[in-house]
Amino acid sequence: MTATNIVIIGASVRDGRVGHRIVEWAADRARAHPGRPTVEVIDPASCALPAESSLEPGGGPRSGVADLIDRADGFVLVTPEYNHSYPAALKRLIDAHYTEWMFKAATVVSYGVQGGLLATEHLRGVLAELHVVTTRRVVGLRCPWEDLDDTGYRPDDRTGRAADAALHELLWWADTLHDARRDRPFVA
Ligand SMILES: Cc1cc2nc3c(=O)[nH]c(=O)nc-3n(C[C@H](O)[C@H](O)[C@H](O)COP(=O)(O)O)c2cc1C
Repeated sequence: MTATNIVIIGASVRDGRVGHRIVEWAADRARAHPGRPTVEVIDPASCALPAESSLEPGGGPRSGVADLIDRADGFVLVTPEYNHSYPAALKRLIDAHYTEWMFKAATVVSYGVQGGLLATEHLRGVLAELHVVTTRRVVGLRCPWEDLDDTGYRPDDRTGRAADAALHELLWWADTLHDARRDRPFVA
């Protein structure tokens, strides 16, 4: 059996963001999962997207990360909560692709003063429109900037276990949908 391909996707593009440290943590956690997925990372601050003016229903011109999204089986979206939703940079990355997302799985690691879960709930509706199944368990990090040191984001064990539980669900869905796309492709 081939390894499950998991792509970790950041959402913040701010100077001085904490998001990239949380992306690193989520990627390390995924790499250490007993299911041994392959793990790649997309940083919306540095990925090449087509101009917004070229956007069309169903995506638009192929982006610099379209192939990466295409070969993924599952996604971990790492997002802050901005004004009770998720950042526009992540929406832009989502909207620039279409079939690349379809019939795959996602979980969300959100963060904010209260864990950022409003961003997650907004993402669930958007992802459902793209035929992406989101896991029941997600991770909400409260004030993660308080758990940063020189080596990165270092939360308590309980937070690590919450991430592992969400990843466990994600890998099950990712593998299940991988087989379904191969054996029983959806026909509208
Ligand atoms: C435009 C903006 C809106 C924000 N809105 C919220 C919010 O609604 N809820 C919240 O808990 N934190 C909010 N925050 C605080 C963020 O949780 C905090 O700044 C966090 O570090 C942002 O993630 P980043 O550093 O990776 O960009 C907001 C921050 C920004 C920049």
